[in-house]
Amino acid sequence: MAKEVKTIGVLTSGGDAPGMNAAIRAVVRKSLNNGVAVKGIKKGYLGLLNEEIVDMDAKSVSDTIQRGGTILGTARCLEFKEEEVQKKAADICAKHGIDGLVVIGGDGSYRGAQALAKHGVNTIGIPGTIDLDIACTDYTIGFDTAINTAMEAIDKVRDTSSSHERCSIIEVMGRNAGYIALWCGVASGAEDILIPEKYDFNEQTLVNNIIANRKIGKTHHLIINAEGIGHSTSMARRIEAATGIETRATILGYMQRGGSPTCKDRYYASIMGAYAADILAKGASNRCICYREGQFCDIDIEEALAMKKEINPYQFETSFLLSRSNR
Ligand code: ADP
Ligand code: F6P
Repeated sequence: MAKEVKTIGVLTSGGDAPGMNAAIRAVVRKSLNNGVAVKGIKKGYLGLLNEEIVDMDAKSVSDTIQRGGTILGTARCLEFKEEEVQKKAADICAKHGIDGLVVIGGDGSYRGAQALAKHGVNTIGIPGTIDLDIACTDYTIGFDTAINTAMEAIDKVRDTSSSHERCSIIEVMGRNAGYIALWCGVASGAEDILIPEKYDFNEQTLVNNIIANRKIGKTHHLIINAEGIGHSTSMARRIEAATGIETRATILGYMQRGGSPTCKDRYYASIMGAYAADILAKGASNRCICYREGQFCDIDIEEALAMKKEINPYQFETSFLLSRSNR
């Protein structure tokens, strides 16, 4: 028989993402509606270990749906990879009467949730990361806001880049994943998109493209470079030396992770939060919420973590063709 869940905790972990507040709000209000009490755990797993735990009611999430960041705070807590520390965290949950836990974060955070499930805490993961790099789901909370923020910034750089007839390298977030770069690159008509999954470190190709574009009269050349490749400033210097075309680097950085979430992020986060509260109330554990093929669903975390996500080759190749204006 499924364990009866009377009190749950909710935490956000890893990099914050716009829409996390909408998810927290939904977890809290749907759980209360299900007759389940909720405790907010501050600063992710670190806050759990430090027992930074507060009671939450429907009012404690008022006026939060439109806010970026996470009202609970977040942290990276490397010691949580240790079995002993995970056991201690499960004991802390028991001490506070927490028999279920919603973890909003990326796949690193899911590993922590999986460990807690093994120690008897019912856990549910909600995908919260601007990187879109969780294989089991087509959507992660924060991605939509981040790409729109980055796209608007890129459009602005493009204006000044064209006016000065410069080449611009714009670095966007994504240490291990190129989704932000790919989407922003396509959406802003970038001439080149560099992503960690596909980059061959051959700058001569870039140089040739820039020169060819200049020959056909393009006044700018936008290169969207993912953080995982990085080194945008030195790359700009080398490209300028090789092409003779003024080249500037702009690193967008953390502004991409903040800001008020888009409607899409608020909507998906709200439904995912409610879904997590419902399955947790029914006794589910070691599951994560996904959006796949147009449906919200849940799958085993183990299965989710074993899945691989690849950049779609057609979409990547097409991005280059669409920015060609010479045929
Ligand atoms: P994300 O959740 O966005 O992928 P991280 O990879 O930084 O971000 O993970 C967030 C946190 O999840 C880590 O700081 C750590 O507390 C926990 N975590 C990550 N990997 C593991 C693991 N293998 N086992 C247990 N906990 C983990
Ligand atoms: O949350 C995802 C992310 O923003 C990645 O794109 C980036 O590589 C990383 O987090 C940066 O993390 P930190 O906050 O530790 O610098």
